[in-house]
Amino acid sequence: MPKDTILVTGGAGYIGSHTVVLLIEAGYKVVVFDNLSNASKESLKRVEKLVNQKITFIEGDIRSREDLQKVFDSHNIDSVIHFAGLKAVGESVEKPLKYYDNNVNGTVILCEMMAKNGCKSIIFSSSATVYGDPATTPILESFPTSATNPYGRSKLMIEEILRDVYVADNAWKIVLLRYFNPVGSHQSGSIGEDPNGIPNNLMPFIAQTAVGKREYLSVFGDDYDTIDGTGVRDYIHVVDLADAHVKAVGKVKNFTEVMTINLGTGKGYSVLEMVKAFEKASGKKVPYQIAPRRAGDIATCFANPSYAKEILAWEATKGIEAMCEDSWRWQSSNPNGYN
Ligand code: NAD
Ligand code: UFG
Repeated sequence: MPKDTILVTGGAGYIGSHTVVLLIEAGYKVVVFDNLSNASKESLKRVEKLVNQKITFIEGDIRSREDLQKVFDSHNIDSVIHFAGLKAVGESVEKPLKYYDNNVNGTVILCEMMAKNGCKSIIFSSSATVYGDPATTPILESFPTSATNPYGRSKLMIEEILRDVYVADNAWKIVLLRYFNPVGSHQSGSIGEDPNGIPNNLMPFIAQTAVGKREYLSVFGDDYDTIDGTGVRDYIHVVDLADAHVKAVGKVKNFTEVMTINLGTGKGYSVLEMVKAFEKASGKKVPYQIAPRRAGDIATCFANPSYAKEILAWEATKGIEAMCEDSWRWQSSNPNGYN
């Protein structure tokens, strides 16, 4: 049976490119749509090599009705996986309107154009950031939500907008996937996370320190109420995360309500545990210094992932060793990312 055609917005980016590989391997037809604001065509060239076929790519912006109409005119889209968005928390505090325009307005226009063209099935990239500072862990989907910065608020607003879209028209099929901390890369090491400038997130910073691009890692706080005083997060291998999207796209048409699903492993690791695991995987030293806490950070965040198992028949399979080994393979063979 021929498989559906999936529009992947933001498909040239970190999580998108990994998901495109798995979608094609699962037999889906894929159309990648990206404005390349935080990605390069090189990632798609690498994906083509991995799957041994041409990728259909349309360069465009989700805020442009014209760009989106071109997609729907040239392809019969069954479902959309919507990764396109800006994700730098600090930048969102400085430029809130840029984030609301790109993420919120962009999603509104995307949904409008989907409905106009008879496609009402969407899987959206939300984030564990919508739980704010949770009262307890592990975090269940039913926990209260809040936002501490415009990036997080844009995710919350989009979740609410999509729920309203469903209330107005039950024909919509909507999945909200709340990612915990995606890390690692495809096991080939040929695609991976390529942040612009100085990385904000822990894993790319550790990897760049191990490869000698950064002198040392600043550990933001060692006085949290955690195993060793440093922040604890639920790191999830990007290939596991990509696999959850393949599972979701296979089931989305059967859903009769908006599905909100945590994607994490259920296990938390501290900053120092990650440093140690990375040193072991890479055989390199990762020098670090304890620095003050980073504003807005919480002590501990990890998922209860049992709903994903129940609904998607999915669970994370890759542990911290694979996360560090694959991240190192990407970093050491591409010290300057895709450049
Ligand atoms: P990424 O920046 O690598 O990928 C996003 C892609 O979207 C980029 O290729 C970018 O060029 C594209 N894009 C941005 N705005 C666009 C627009 N207006 N029109 C078309 N394309 C546009 O980021 P990622 O890490 O792959 O994240 C993917 C999604 O997952 C984002 O929505 C992000 O907020 C969400 N998310 C990421 C994380 C994480 O830690 N990486 C955690 C939770 C949620
Ligand atoms: N950390 C350091 N040094 C660094 C970077 C991070 O010690 O140079 C620590 C942080 O304090 C935290 C842990 O490593 O304890 C993980 O930090 P990340 O920045 O990798 O990820 P966060 O869990 O802090 O989440 C951030 C944003 C979220 C967003 C998420 C995914 O705060 O809003 O990244 O993009 F959703």
